This record gives sequence, C-alpha cells and structure tokens, in this order.
Amino acid sequence: MPSFLAYGKVLYSSMRVENNEKVILVETRPTGIHGLDELMNGGLPDGRVVLLIGGPGTGKTILAAQFLYKGIKDHKENGVFVSLDENKNHFYSEMGAFGWDFAGAEKDRKFAFIDATRATKASMLKEEIYKEETRSLKGKELPIEKLASELQNKIAYVGAKRIVVDTLTALFYRFPDPVERRTAVVDLIESLADLNKTTILTTELQHLGLERNAIPEEYLVHGVIMMQTLFSGGTTTRALQIEKMRGTKVNPNLVPYTIDRNGIEVFPNMPLFEEK
Ligand SMILES: Nc1ncnc2c1ncn2[C@@H]1O[C@H](COP(=O)(O)OP(=O)(O)OP(=O)(O)O)[C@@H](O)[C@H]1O
Ligand SMILES: [Mg+2]
Repeated sequence: MPSFLAYGKVLYSSMRVENNEKVILVETRPTGIHGLDELMNGGLPDGRVVLLIGGPGTGKTILAAQFLYKGIKDHKENGVFVSLDENKNHFYSEMGAFGWDFAGAEKDRKFAFIDATRATKASMLKEEIYKEETRSLKGKELPIEKLASELQNKIAYVGAKRIVVDTLTALFYRFPDPVERRTAVVDLIESLADLNKTTILTTELQHLGLERNAIPEEYLVHGVIMMQTLFSGGTTTRALQIEKMRGTKVNPNLVPYTIDRNGIEVFPNMPLFEEK
C-alpha cells in the first residue's frame, strides 16, 4: 500500500477497487485523536467534508476542536473554526479546560475563529432582509454566501488545511421553512466541498438507540462519523462508529470512547459493554 510523505510525517492512503478496474486513492490526515485514526485507516480523507453526527453532549464540539488543535500542534496544519452556535470567548474558555490554547494559536496566525452567529445576524440586518418578504430566497441565501467568502478570507490568512463548522443544527432554526433550509444546507455543504480542505461539519442526532434513519445530509458528504450515548443494564457508555468513508477502508464497528481532561479518546479494540 503506498504512503505519502508530507511535513516529514507519513500519511496513510487507502484504495478501493470498483468493478475490478477503477482504483480510487484517498490520502488521509491523522486527526491526532487517539484510537480514531486507527478506525479510519490513518485519519480523515484529505480535502473532503465529513459529517459528525451526535446527540446533545456527546462531545461533537470537543472532537472537532481537538482535530483542529492537534492539527496545529502536531501536524503543521492550521485551522479555522466556524461557530454557528457559541461565541469565541465561550469556546476558548471551554477548550482551555483541555489545555488547548486557541487564543495563543490565533495570535500566532495558526488559527481563526469565525463567529457566524453574529456575522449572519449582522449581515441580515445590514442588508435589511427583515424588510423583505420573509420567504425571499435571495435574502435567505445571502448569509451562506457571506459565510463562504469570510471563510475563504480566513483560510488564506492562516493558510488553513483544516476546517470545522459547528453546528449545522443552528441553521435548522434559522430556516424554519423546509425548502429554504434544504437550500441553505446544500449550499453550505457544496461551498465547503469546493474549498478542498479537510473538514468536519457537526450536526445533531435527535434520537437515542442503535437503529435510526439516515438524514439527507449524509448523502451529500464524503464521510459520516456517529457519536452516541448508549444505556444498557443501568450502565451508560459513549460509543462511536464510522458509518461511511468513501474511498477508505474503515473499521465499521461501534466502539467505546471517553471524554476526560485530555479530550476524547477512542478504544477500537475494547468491547462496548463489560462482560458480567
Ligand atoms: N473535563 C471533562 N471530563 C469529562 N467530560 C467532560 C469534560 N469536559 C466536558 N465533558 C463532557 O463533554 C460533553 C460536552 O461536550 P461537547 O460540548 O463537545 O458536546 P456536544 O456534542 O458539542 O454538545 P451540544 O450538542 O450541546 O453542542 C458533556 O457531556 C460533558 O460531560
Ligand atoms: Mg457542541
């Protein structure tokens, strides 16, 4: 199996044979999250968009932030965090609890934070969208375009290779109309895919348990990782699964993970529940 050299580190790659002739090669980037890269044959697919789905409090924001911080510190890959639901101070202080100094990385021009909650509200007011027809698609589309262009500026400013958008769920509240929401979600995912950066997009899973229906966003992205909290026999277990990763051989098992003061750790070889 071929491997690539970049920044002095070996990056893994994987192959998939389709119709016994077409070979797709996807280079992968280590997330730096212990155990997770093992599940994905080395890491996340380079330059692609992966959807991170999970219930409230499953650790989506922590995992995504850890991917960016490890990228900056251990893999010389700078990052941009686009927040649609919490402000910069809140994010910096929460992530500081894990020893991740995002403010320092920002000063060193290795990281940028986009407060998309404020930006979108401000742009809506500036463009006087509230005066327009509430169903005007033009007005509703504008914030996504602005977001994409601000993202491009920040990517250029820090030379970013990794992007996080947290969380798609916030758009659901901004676009109550299902057709407008769908347009906004597709626009956002397409804009992210066009940037060719290794991207994690988070979204909420409004459901508990092992069985669920796929959400439409899953068909638009390159890969899907699912995080959930399972309850069995009075025990609560955090569990993670790589549901899809095009062009990469993955371990599709549901495996346990923990959150502690160092962040997230995944255990690919550990059983989900202790044998009694
Ligand atoms: N130092 C820590 N040790 C152990 N667990 C922690 C620690 N800090 C946070 N947590 C856990 O992490 C979870 C919150 O993580 P995070 O904010 O990433 O979740 P999320 O999936 O983004 O949630 P939301 O849907 O609310 O945005 C909580 O369940 C909390 O108990
Ligand atoms: Mg969150």
